[in-house]
Amino acid sequence: MKRFMLQLFRLAMTMTIMITMAVMIFSLRDRVTSLKRQLAEAQAGEDPGVFATIASRTSIRKFDPSKAVSDEAIGKILKAGMCAPSAMNKQPWEFVVVRDAAQLKALGEALPYSRVGNGAQAAIVVCGNLDNGLPGRGKEYWIHDCSAASMNILLAAKGLGLGAVWTGVYPGEDRIAAVRKILAIPEGFMPLNIIPIGHPAENPPPKDKWNPAKVHKNRW
Ligand SMILES: Cc1cc2nc3c(=O)[nH]c(=O)nc-3n(C[C@H](O)[C@H](O)[C@H](O)COP(=O)(O)O)c2cc1C
Repeated sequence: MKRFMLQLFRLAMTMTIMITMAVMIFSLRDRVTSLKRQLAEAQAGEDPGVFATIASRTSIRKFDPSKAVSDEAIGKILKAGMCAPSAMNKQPWEFVVVRDAAQLKALGEALPYSRVGNGAQAAIVVCGNLDNGLPGRGKEYWIHDCSAASMNILLAAKGLGLGAVWTGVYPGEDRIAAVRKILAIPEGFMPLNIIPIGHPAENPPPKDKWNPAKVHKNRW
């Protein structure tokens, strides 16, 4: 009887080990298949990380004031901003990085819609050089160029796990005057927006904006 029990125990142990190994082999096989697919997509030129960052970005308007944003993070965000395309590569942007608590407070109080007062650890004010060197209507390209830089800034913040929101300054005359005064922005340069940055203190779901009706094929 004792021997039978021992054999039964051995059988049970062998089966447990075999089942565990089978599960491990199957999950390993799934992982290899998924890595192969990711590699194939990467080789085909697709970077799934880019799409995930774009799709999951959403405006963050409340920040955790107790969590610091490092200078390194701000540096990376600024580098991303300056990677943007610009008309004839004129790069007509300037960035005012606001880290000083008194300056942040002044911005937040003068411009409640900037959300800087909601615990932001930093704010980047994207400004355009109005003399971007382009003639005639081309002068207006500073808006496009600085907007492209702003979008890169929002995505870079998201990529670093930080929250941010584009808050409009230009063309609101009152907003422009307030920002110009607080940050001593000289004539010839125009603040386009204020982007408060901090660790998110809210977690709104990204909005699903996909609307195929907005896509016109070959002609309107
Ligand atoms: C030109 C522009 C101006 C904006 N101004 C403000 C603003 O003053 N305050 C604010 O809280 N959000 C502002 N936003 C953010 C928009 O409200 C937000 O992008 C929009 O509701 C879509 O939401 P999502 O960014 O989460 O996708 C602005 C966005 C843009 C592009």
